[in-house]
Amino acid sequence: MSMEPQVPPLFQVEGLRVAFGRDGQLYEAVRGISLHVDPGEVLGIVGESGSGKSVGMLAALGLQPEGARVSGSVRFKGQELVGMPRSQLRKLRGARIAMIFQDPLSSLNPVMTVGDQIIEAVRLHHPDMSRKAAMGRALDLLALVAIPQPDRRVKQYPHEFSGGMRQRVMIAMAMANDPDLLIADEPTTALDVTVQAQIMEVLADLQDRLKLGLILITHDLGVLAGHADRVAVVYAGQVVEQAGVDDLFARPGHPYTRGLIASIPNMAAESERLFSIDGTPPVLGKLPTGCAFHPRCRHAREICRSLAPQAQTAGAGHSAACHFAFATPEAAP
Ligand SMILES: Nc1ncnc2c1ncn2[C@@H]1O[C@H](COP(=O)(O)OP(=O)(O)OP(=O)(O)O)[C@@H](O)[C@H]1O
Ligand code: SF4
Ligand SMILES: [Mg+2]
Repeated sequence: MSMEPQVPPLFQVEGLRVAFGRDGQLYEAVRGISLHVDPGEVLGIVGESGSGKSVGMLAALGLQPEGARVSGSVRFKGQELVGMPRSQLRKLRGARIAMIFQDPLSSLNPVMTVGDQIIEAVRLHHPDMSRKAAMGRALDLLALVAIPQPDRRVKQYPHEFSGGMRQRVMIAMAMANDPDLLIADEPTTALDVTVQAQIMEVLADLQDRLKLGLILITHDLGVLAGHADRVAVVYAGQVVEQAGVDDLFARPGHPYTRGLIASIPNMAAESERLFSIDGTPPVLGKLPTGCAFHPRCRHAREICRSLAPQAQTAGAGHSAACHFAFATPEAAP
């Protein structure tokens, strides 16, 4: 066995918690998430709506809503971000770490040309760059995300772009300062299937060429099959399973993961009815006792109602937080 030198993670989140105050009570939307991304690696974060994917990653970058309480540790290249002064965090964001937000339409300014918005993003971190040089960079960036005729497009307004083209602009802006880490929150959700595939290709191509660390947030595990190296499955504010992507699909350890896999259309055999996970995820402040998934789990036993499961491991880098992880009947979700 060769001893590879240990490269520190590009991004390491440990025990991240985010709580909102409401009517004098604290409600935790993120309940101790730990994950990491190595340089040049694609980590997928998957989970249903409301599971805390966006709140968690935003808080990791210091972008929590006013009044939210954040604790735990978030390190970028070894540097702690939790508690870092806002001005210093702002410098990191958009430069070394870039994020594509979940709602790209409201992130673009409707009364500014696409070119001017990219120039602004470039100059935010390079205030000394001339307008001409920044315009050159804007054209390069539009070409980078495969927008045809960049010299014409750069003068247009967001409403002159289709949804897919706007999403490319958002990616171009995120890339303005050559980040080492890109966090893309549901980059394809609002788009139709063909355009979704094109946007994923643009991201995959960028990631591969620039050796970016990429966090891909989605509620669709199918998207991650072809694009992620590793996957973290999130349920009710916690990571319930983490594994290399092939391992996750081959040997899912958590019943929730198995449910997600069974609900991917082309993963189910044609004769089978598409499986969907019964019930709905818990709402904030109404967390079930024990294992948060137990009201929806067909393997739940007495212990699941009273005791929260610890993560169990099965092979390198594969863990699942279920009392019967890797032991519940394989076939059924
Ligand atoms: N500003 C806020 N104040 C109070 N609660 C909030 C706030 N923002 C989000 N939440 C709650 O935090 C929880 C997690 O929300 P989050 O947006 O992270 O979910 P998500 O996993 O990104 O879902 P989706 O797939 O719909 O984007 C939800 O219960 C949500 O209602
Ligand atoms: S701990 Fe129990 S309820 Fe939770 S996923 Fe495992 S079997 Fe299901
Ligand atoms: Mg979200």
